[in-house]
Amino acid sequence: MKPIKILPLLCLFALIYSAVATTDDAWTAPARAAAKKNPIAADAASIGRGKTVYTAECVTCHGASGKGDGPQAKDLEKNPGNLTKLQGQSPGALFWKVTEGRKPMPSLGQKLTEQQRWDVVNYIQTLSK
Ligand code: HEC
Repeated sequence: MKPIKILPLLCLFALIYSAVATTDDAWTAPARAAAKKNPIAADAASIGRGKTVYTAECVTCHGASGKGDGPQAKDLEKNPGNLTKLQGQSPGALFWKVTEGRKPMPSLGQKLTEQQRWDVVNYIQTLSK
């Protein structure tokens, strides 16, 4: 009889664990990173450079419109989300996410220069307009 009594308890723990894991899943930039000021003016030149970076490094997953419908998106373990709905995330927060990445989103801090990362942040902020 014992295992049968333990089973509901195990289910309860699994339920609580998955709830905690889901809450933990939100991807939020640390406050210090989010407060970082963008040193690169979001002018046409920067946005143009950012588009080039985006087309080379981001479009396979995020899609040309930024809606997460790039050709590689369906093969990822997680949807890339919607870059047209960044809900007021600061440029610093976006810069941090591009720099750090979070699986399967690659960490691009080594591959892209600091300027390229700010340029691509300036570009993705135009996708919602
Ligand atoms: C291999 C596919 C892939 C590539 C390439 C990629 N991303 Fe992502 N990206 C993702 C995934 C998946 C997520 C969601 C990660 C999560 O929520 O844990 C994400 C999340 C993001 C977010 C956070 C969105 C939010 O709602 O907070 C930003 C910003 C972002 N990516 C920008 C970029 C930029 C800019 C590039 C190119 C320089 C890029 N990504 C390249 C897959 C990718």
